[in-house]
Amino acid sequence: QERLKAFGKESDFAPRHVHVVGAGVMGGDIAAVCALRGMKVTLQDQSVERIAPAIQRAARLFERRHKGDARQVRFTLDRLIADPEGHGAARADVIIEAIFEDLAVKRSLFAELERRARPEAVLATNTSSLRLEDIASALQDPSRLVGIHFFNPVPMLPLVEVVEGEATSAEVLRRATGFVRRIDKLPLPVKSAPGFLVNAVLGPYMLEALRCVEEGIAPEAVDAALTAFGMPMGPVELVDTVGLDIAVAAGKALAGSGAEPPARLLKLVAAGKLGRKSGEGYYRWQDGKVVKAA
Ligand code: NAI
Repeated sequence: QERLKAFGKESDFAPRHVHVVGAGVMGGDIAAVCALRGMKVTLQDQSVERIAPAIQRAARLFERRHKGDARQVRFTLDRLIADPEGHGAARADVIIEAIFEDLAVKRSLFAELERRARPEAVLATNTSSLRLEDIASALQDPSRLVGIHFFNPVPMLPLVEVVEGEATSAEVLRRATGFVRRIDKLPLPVKSAPGFLVNAVLGPYMLEALRCVEEGIAPEAVDAALTAFGMPMGPVELVDTVGLDIAVAAGKALAGSGAEPPARLLKLVAAGKLGRKSGEGYYRWQDGKVVKAA
């Protein structure tokens, strides 16, 4: 407990510029949280059209956090810069990758980021289920890669896993931890193992909930039971929030290649029903909230 509380507290690392690649569910919110903490943030994705929704979501968050103080909202928004070409990578102190959970795409991105980044910049991946070593081996210097694994929704959840790969250097780990402290999150040191710590526990819990749905219990009933038990959100709603495609990928990585995800989950993903981000999954969603049945 004491070690955990102290972890990273002594860090003097004070990053001023964070570059985030991937403006989806996670990257957009990570960028917003960094801007709220006073950092300059460049946000990269494949096009301006992909970055715009993340900036709109950030603006709504800033309005809530600054309680409608328009000047503060403006200042914070000014620090968050859409950067489709990725120019910010050459100047940032910390680079966080939050693109699709696809090993080949992540490897080629990191090979490029390593060429562009300043030598002392921290290179971090937000991957939930890929082995850090498999990404790091695409780098000339694998000791530069660390995992900084946020939880969804990023603005609400204080815990961040700081993932040490086999090659990660002590200095990179120290900086990554210092960065997490600077954005007022709680860094949890973990080794690169399937599911790290939190998802290793949460994965089977969510899967079991989906099996109950598969057996005919309504998602609402499963979620009602677990929220009555004291969970802030039911497991089926949590799967919808995380994203059904991400859940399938994470489930495969956790269970090994042998286990089959529930049939309904696969059917929903094939139909493009990915949960909150696409407007429908196990539930229907509107404005970031489940649409309750009338
Ligand atoms: P998402 O699908 O919402 O967003 C991914 C974004 O990356 C898209 O906007 C896409 O256009 C962009 N992208 C893809 N390839 C790119 C490239 N080469 N260059 C620039 N942009 C590119 O995905 P999400 O859910 O935000 O996940 C991102 C990462 O975060 C994944 O590695 C996932 O495992 C991890 N993660 C997801 C969590 C979740 O609850 N969704 C929780 C923790 C980690």
